[in-house]
This record gives sequence, structure tokens and C-alpha cells, in this order.
Amino acid sequence: HDEPLAADGDVVIIGAGLAGLFTALKLSPMPVTVVAAAPLGQGASTGWAQGGVASAMGSTDRPEFHAADTIAAGAGTVDEDVARFVAEEGPDRIADLIGYGVPFDREPDGTFALSREAAHSHRRVAHVSGDRTGASILETLVARVRATPSIRVLEGYEADELLMADDRVEGVRLVRAAEHGHEVYEYVPACAVVLATGGVGALYAVTTNPAYARGESIAMAARAGAVIADAEFVQFHPTAIDAGLDPAPLATEALRGEGATLINSLGERFMLPLDPRAELGSRDVVARAVFKEIAEGRGVFLDCRTAVGAHFPAAFPTVYALCRNAGIDPVSQPIPVAPAAHYHMGGIATDARGRSSVPGLWAVGEVASTGLHGANRLASNSLLEAMVFGARAATDIATLGRGTRHTRTDLQRVGDIVPDHSLSRSAAVARLRKTMSDDVGVVRSAAGLRKAIATLRDIERAAGSDRVLANMALAGRFIAVGALLREESRGAQLRSDFTDANPQFAHRAFLKLADVDTI
Ligand code: SIN
Repeated sequence: HDEPLAADGDVVIIGAGLAGLFTALKLSPMPVTVVAAAPLGQGASTGWAQGGVASAMGSTDRPEFHAADTIAAGAGTVDEDVARFVAEEGPDRIADLIGYGVPFDREPDGTFALSREAAHSHRRVAHVSGDRTGASILETLVARVRATPSIRVLEGYEADELLMADDRVEGVRLVRAAEHGHEVYEYVPACAVVLATGGVGALYAVTTNPAYARGESIAMAARAGAVIADAEFVQFHPTAIDAGLDPAPLATEALRGEGATLINSLGERFMLPLDPRAELGSRDVVARAVFKEIAEGRGVFLDCRTAVGAHFPAAFPTVYALCRNAGIDPVSQPIPVAPAAHYHMGGIATDARGRSSVPGLWAVGEVASTGLHGANRLASNSLLEAMVFGARAATDIATLGRGTRHTRTDLQRVGDIVPDHSLSRSAAVARLRKTMSDDVGVVRSAAGLRKAIATLRDIERAAGSDRVLANMALAGRFIAVGALLREESRGAQLRSDFTDANPQFAHRAFLKLADVDTI
């Protein structure tokens, strides 16, 4: 779809994490509207990213090594060209962040301070104030966006439908809470729409993601005809802090990079016999082992007492505060941990320019499936992917828009209702999240997945006018159907009824709405 952009309407970017804001800045001075469900700087997963941004910047590191680690972690389904260009463009995107004012941590000699994370062959994770990387990046970009006149920001608006004309996306329906319990629907015309809404963690009962990571864009894009890729690959982080909080706070993998160990309640380092890299084995392997220890009643703890000890508050201030808030002193106590839904490798299928299969629609960041992560994302590759594809999508959109004189259009009010769904939504969401965790979680089987698909269909049917709920249930259904059709175990997908990888499935999987509706 190479036609020029329409003259009417902004580029409308849904989502205000790193992917959305970086794309908006790269599009400047083209008129852009950023739609954010929460006040800018709140609600986005980026703000909670601890580890950092992976990029080959160490003196002995090279983009080829970074690409090779990404391909190996992805368990046979990474698009190798994508891995190569993302690794190569990484240092330039970090330079962009520095240009925007992100103060990356440095060694005394001025070189980047780089940490190690699981399955990386080199120290390669750039960070800010230890584990405040995402928060610092988000603060910096929010300030930059606020100071950019070509960017209009709509806060407190959620997108619930893409509007089409002649099989092309031409706008978005937005909903916002108004006075007296009303909801107002507004239509925003768009010369191009970029979905940058993040992941699906909040579809699960235990997650490290903020509440807005509900996967709705997958449903909106699928209803508009888009291809969804690798929906089944949901990554579970092995070390969410297990203190009964929702969302579950994260204990960054960089702690294991510093030598912290995983022990069970018997004090055994159960990773030692399972993987030559022990606690720094790839995330799918470690998450699965943690899950098994807990399922078998042995509990799991991240022991940082020796490796980090008294340095904890200065080196990992975010995790330290989260632990103290949960009543744990990580300097002197092992941290109770459990796996939690953390990152969606699957999503809206995009090409190397961030284009979806639907004209007028791009997707960037976690909501997209670019082929970079395969079946298991390498730690700290997600902020990098958001920037590499944000820059590429912006270049593509700017090229298509060249020569067009864009006019900003006002929002058009298209409806105003008193919703009847607020009580029923919270019960339905609780049922949905339990279903996803029980039957579409770390371990899956055909019987459980079929049960989950039936429950999700029920929730979707009963959602009535509640588009947000219907979209959440449909996103869940994509994940469950993808998991059912992939009759093997690979990366983040573990099937109790197909325990081995099957070479016939060593590829990405693509689904459209009609495919999912037949199951
Ligand atoms: C972490 O800090 O452990 C998370 C890093 C990531 O998920 O990429």
C-alpha cells in the first residue's frame, strides 16, 4: 500500500510509551496527535522498564554478536534480517535518546556502564540511575513531546475502534469518561494510524505490566482485517516479586547479571543442573523452572545477599523501594519470586517499515510482531525494538506524506452514553484474567485451551456495548487459538501434551480474525 497519505487529519498515534512518543518525535514537524489513556508519563510499561536498552556498545561487542544472541534466544523463529538491522541501528537510536537528554550511566572513563542480562554473550545493557531506565526515558520524552508544537496530546482517551473507508484506515473512534458517569465517543480523522499501545500482560491474573496493557489493539487491528503473528508467544518473567500485589513488581534480571542466585525453600540452587548458564539461562527456561519449583511446593527466592548485599539501595533503587514496600529487606532477606506475564512477542504483524497488512495502519513497539523476538525475547531488546521501528515507521509515513499539505482536523463528537457496564466489566475482567492464567499461562494443553476459548467467547458475547471488554476477550482468544494450533513446545510456549519442539513448526504463525473465529 504505497499510495500517498490523505491530506485530512493528523498522523494519529495511539499509545504514549516509548514507541508512541519516539515515533511522534521522529515525525516532527508533521502534525501528530498522540492519544493516551492515562495522563502522559503514567500508564505506559516503558516507565516500569528496569534493566535497560540492549545495544552492542562495549569495546569487545559487535552488532553481529547481539543479533546472534537474539536469534539463539528466539528458539528458531526469529527473522534473522530483522535481528541484524535492529542490532546495527541500536547505537544510533541510543544516540537519539542521548540527544533528547536521557542521562545514561557512565563508567569513570566516560564509556557506557553496561550490565549483563540473561542469554547475552556480552555486557550490553545501557541503563540510567541503575534500574530507573524506563522511568528516565519516559520523563525525558514526555518533556520533549510537550515542547514540540506539531504534537497534539489527548489524555484520558481510549481508542476502541478503527474506522475504515475502502479497506483503508481513515480514523479512530475514541472514548473518554465525561461528567455524570457519561462516556463520550469522538471520531478523529487520520491520514495514518500508528498503534503503539503495548502488550497483553493485564489479560493475566499475575503480571508485571500496568493495567492498560490489555491487548485491545490486537482486536481492533484484527477487526479491521490485519494479520496477527505469533500470538501464542507470551513471555513470563521468572522473578516478579511474590508479595500478593497486582500488578506484581519486578526484580530485574540485572540482579542475576550481578550474581544473584535462585534458590528454593530447601536452599537448593535448582538452575545449576538445568542449564550451563544456570540463573542466566534464557528467560523461557528459567521461568519454566521457577514455575515447576513453585507448582511442586518448594517456593522460589532470589538471593541477592552475597552478590549485591549492602550495595542494593544505591545500585537498584527501584527494586529496593518495591521490596521495602512489600515488607522485604533484600539486603538481608531472599526475595520471594514467581513468574508473571511480562511481554508479548506476538502481535500485529508488521514489515521492516512498521506497516501492518492494512493500508493506513502501522504498529510499533510491543503491540507489533516484527519477527525480532521469535518465541522468546532476549532481555532488554524491547525498548530497542520500539525505537528502531518507531524511527522506521516515521520515515515511511513521512515519505508517503511528502508533498501533501496536512490540515489538522478537530475531533467530532459522535455519541454520548451512560454506560451500563462498569460493574459487570470488573467481574468479567477478573474471570478473563483467571482463565488466561489458568489455561493460557506458562503450561498449556489442548483441553485447557479449548475451555479458555469457550470462556473468552462467552465474555465477548456478553460484553454488549462494552467494546473495551470485547476487545480484551478477542485478544485473549488470539493467544489461546495460536497456542492451540502450535502443537509443540518452543520458547515461551510449553504444551504439556506436546512437550518437544517440532521442526514442522519452526516458523512464525499468522492468523486473521476469520481463522480464530473458526476454532
Ligand atoms: C528486567 O529488567 O529484568 C526486564 C528486562 C526485560 O524484560 O527486557
